[in-house]
Amino acid sequence: MIGVFDSGNGGLTVLRALAGRLPGPGFAYLGDHANAPYGDRPAEAVYRLTVENVERLFGLGCRLVLLACNTASAVALRRLQRHWLPGVDGGRRVLGVLVPVVEPITLVPWQVNAPPSDRPTPPATIGVFATPRTVTTGAFAYEIGRRAPAVTVLQQACPGLVAAIEADAPAAEIAGLVAGFVAALQERCPAGRPDTVVLGCTHFPLVADAFAAALPAGVPILDQPRLVADSLEAYLRRHPDFDDGAGGGAAEGGGIRFLSTGCNGATAAVASRFFGRPVVFERVG
Ligand code: DGL
Repeated sequence: MIGVFDSGNGGLTVLRALAGRLPGPGFAYLGDHANAPYGDRPAEAVYRLTVENVERLFGLGCRLVLLACNTASAVALRRLQRHWLPGVDGGRRVLGVLVPVVEPITLVPWQVNAPPSDRPTPPATIGVFATPRTVTTGAFAYEIGRRAPAVTVLQQACPGLVAAIEADAPAAEIAGLVAGFVAALQERCPAGRPDTVVLGCTHFPLVADAFAAALPAGVPILDQPRLVADSLEAYLRRHPDFDDGAGGGAAEGGGIRFLSTGCNGATAAVASRFFGRPVVFERVG
């Protein structure tokens, strides 16, 4: 099984894309509902919780874990890969969701950590909407900048948006919040508008329409779940040993275990909105 981790429900937007795309592997989805949201937590707490939950997925037999949470990827992935994973029993891998998005922005393959000299010119201004914690890490700007230094990355923190999405707030309330974040970003754009937008939180695909309505016509919004599915598909082609062939029916929710550190009576209904099909969690931890 491939482990898919998020602070709560957001990663289900990614899992949905993975299950629709990859018939081979089985998946174990783990939502840390007991500690969500991560987006306002101190970086050290996000790191500690991320490691704890990756360990949990390793303990369940997952050898490959995807952090399907931008906040966890931004705060924890590089540190965990450098300082924690080498001390863990061999052959295990942890991937994140930032770099699959960075590749189409910079037009530089993710394996490349420096800009090649013959690189075509990528769009000039990228707008990233994300949780406050993701924004304070500067991880999107860092990952884009090391491959395409000429690109301007403008980040916009979206406090309150995750909570509003979880609460299924009325469309007018979501539209008002999103319009405010878009206006705040556009004020800082040299040309008054971004060239491309990234919704850098796995909750935000649920309100992509509100972003599209608030942005000027024609500004593309990158589809992070689809890009992560593209990237994982390519990764599994290079590392077929992580594909256990246990995913039969994953597109319909078969071949998937849904785990939660703290689900309650309401969690399944909220989660089902993210996954697009009924979700039943097993409690762990
Ligand atoms: N879905 C998470 C992300 O992609 C954030 C949700 C939270 O704040 O826990 O950043």
